Amino acid sequence: MNDLAPGFAPNILDQDIQGILGRPLDRVDGPKKVSGNATYSYEYAGQGQVAYGFVVNATISNGRILSIDTEEASRLPGVLLVMTHLNAPRQGEYVTFYKIPSDQSQDSVARPYLSSNEVQYYGQPVAFVVAESFEQARDAASRVKVSYEQGHKPASRVKAEASQAFAPKTVRGFLVTDSIIGDFETAFAAAPIKVDATYETPFQHHHAIEPHSTMASWDGDAVTLHVAAQLPVECREMIAATLMIPKSKVRILCKFVGGGFGSKLRTESDAVLAALAARQLRRPVKTAFTRQQVFVNAAHRTESIQHVRLAADRDGRMTGLSHEVIEHTATFDEFAEQTADFGRHLYAAPNRVTTHRLVRLDLPMPGDMRAPGEAIGMLAFEQAMDELAYALDMDPIELRIRNEPAVHPETGKPFSTRHLVECYREGAARFGWDRRPSRPGTLRDGRWLVGYGMSAAIRTHFNRGAEARVRLAPDGNLTVETAMTDIGTGTYTVLTQIAAESMGLPTDRITVDIGDTNLPPAPGSGGSFGACSSGSGVYLACMALRNRMARAAGLNEEIAIKDGIVSAGDQKLAIDAFMARYAPAGLEAEGKEKPGKEAKDYSESSYGAHFAEVGVDIDSGEPRLRRMLGVYTAGRILNAKTARSQAIGGLIWGLGSALHEEGLVDDRFAKFVNNDLAGYHFPAHADAVNVDAMFLPELDDKTNPLKAKGVGELGICGSGAAVANAIYNACGVRVRSYPITLDKLILDPAFPSND
Ligand code: MOS
Repeated sequence: MNDLAPGFAPNILDQDIQGILGRPLDRVDGPKKVSGNATYSYEYAGQGQVAYGFVVNATISNGRILSIDTEEASRLPGVLLVMTHLNAPRQGEYVTFYKIPSDQSQDSVARPYLSSNEVQYYGQPVAFVVAESFEQARDAASRVKVSYEQGHKPASRVKAEASQAFAPKTVRGFLVTDSIIGDFETAFAAAPIKVDATYETPFQHHHAIEPHSTMASWDGDAVTLHVAAQLPVECREMIAATLMIPKSKVRILCKFVGGGFGSKLRTESDAVLAALAARQLRRPVKTAFTRQQVFVNAAHRTESIQHVRLAADRDGRMTGLSHEVIEHTATFDEFAEQTADFGRHLYAAPNRVTTHRLVRLDLPMPGDMRAPGEAIGMLAFEQAMDELAYALDMDPIELRIRNEPAVHPETGKPFSTRHLVECYREGAARFGWDRRPSRPGTLRDGRWLVGYGMSAAIRTHFNRGAEARVRLAPDGNLTVETAMTDIGTGTYTVLTQIAAESMGLPTDRITVDIGDTNLPPAPGSGGSFGACSSGSGVYLACMALRNRMARAAGLNEEIAIKDGIVSAGDQKLAIDAFMARYAPAGLEAEGKEKPGKEAKDYSESSYGAHFAEVGVDIDSGEPRLRRMLGVYTAGRILNAKTARSQAIGGLIWGLGSALHEEGLVDDRFAKFVNNDLAGYHFPAHADAVNVDAMFLPELDDKTNPLKAKGVGELGICGSGAAVANAIYNACGVRVRSYPITLDKLILDPAFPSND
């Protein structure tokens, strides 16, 4: 399954000289992490004596602050500063979505805090208390007395506001809001087989193990922030814009980030408030959100209502598909999750409708959460495909294969690579799909009704530019430098592998230095673009370095290096001896990856197939996973272990979105109420049994020099629908409102009785 284009010259990575790229190398930062030597943002002691900040959150959903009484809080022992809108420094103005300059993003523009008496969501920061200790700051924060004037009765649910839905001008700035091709309504009316169903997905929250946290310290007019950031470059711009200081005066450090998943794409109030307070107090200030604060002070995922209609011939060829989404944004700004976008790339059908509508809710700004778009769009659409398969009395894999497009179904562009059918077939064979009962509710294992389900996986591949610098020291050790982040995904490890393979060096000669805006700019971690983008920069820097080595040795041809032995002309030298002879001061080179023309000429996505077997308790309706498998293709896999781990994480998250996750709002206050990790459910170990994932071998030479595509989010794209489909197969109940809890099953008249 090697898609090398005819005439394509294999590059050095294809030669597998060092035998390290793609292998399941253990994390190079693992020993640091397990020994407590990986330092996270909040753990930096700071120059001078650090002070602790604590955010005070609003307790109304909208309206204004009438008065803030900070007297008692200010008098408490240890309290250094109580910052409110009355005394906060002036900051850059909030830049709403349509005012963002074209070279900026929602993550890089000004986000002021404590800048007026206006309240726009429950939990909005209204004060920041800084004290000598965390306990003093938290205690004082609880004694800041705020009186409010409540504004209008809050809007807090998509369904209740659906009649007010509007079409955003664009989705995310890079996608069209509506894509309409052909005449769907006519095709639908004429179709002999159809599905017409509405699905609902709830508010979802994400919680990295490390909450959002910052340690800020100033040196004159320059600030350094240790901050839990996925995108250090954007974080720097956001801080500079908000604090109204030049970018050159801001340094972001994020050597270790304890999870991100989209939640740390945006820079939140922790960073802004810590920086402001540290400037005023002339000492370092650190702050971290509590778990409860993460629910309101960081991005959550939109609630959605998704209307899916499918039209098919009797032989299962779709004549039309329609996916109409309503979701929410905040009252004060716009964020439109690209929930229907994946459907533009996935199945063939001549008549097609994919649309996005928004309602405004009095909630915090929704935002990116693992696989924005696919994650919830596929929960709905891939269930609808399953419903169509039953309506046709056809195997759901066969249905998907019959609707597999030869070229991109909307643009007509060729696919860079697409081995989705191979994923279906390989997955079906490995999972034992032939044991799936074709009629629901017919397979029993004691009390358990057993069912099988599957779904497709697709995730758009994004190319981002990245720069990197490599330095080869006189002793033959290589340092890799790029402002990339490792949010737990394995960046340190895969960049080590790429550099080792590119340079013909053993991994113990490579040191990777990332997480610092003083290093060459890189796109950071997000949207599954991190490893491919930054890795390409590193590869190109290494190629430039090899050229410099050859030139230093006076050679025109390329040099060969393996295991640190350099073959130059007719001599063989250990790399340190080579450097002593030809480059005693060391050598340095830079690489710059820019997305090429291919990104425009080809449709580039990662693909896969998800399989789930569930049991549903015949007495209680309790659904439980029995096993789950994901089979994927994503170009070259850079590290078999870290890629598989990410895929498994995605599968488990898909399981959670199918069975557990649901953010609940108290409509009276527009307040998230199950705001801790006891009340907000997600899979525990006992829920996530027998979860496995694998990648089929593939090279995609249209994407980047690595021939790799994004893997990070692929596992959550559709996997929840495979669980939902397995539940239907087990018990014959179709639940279209996530999460699928036992009450929705047992109370359904279609649920089998135990007699
Ligand atoms: Mo991505 S939304 O940064 O997992």
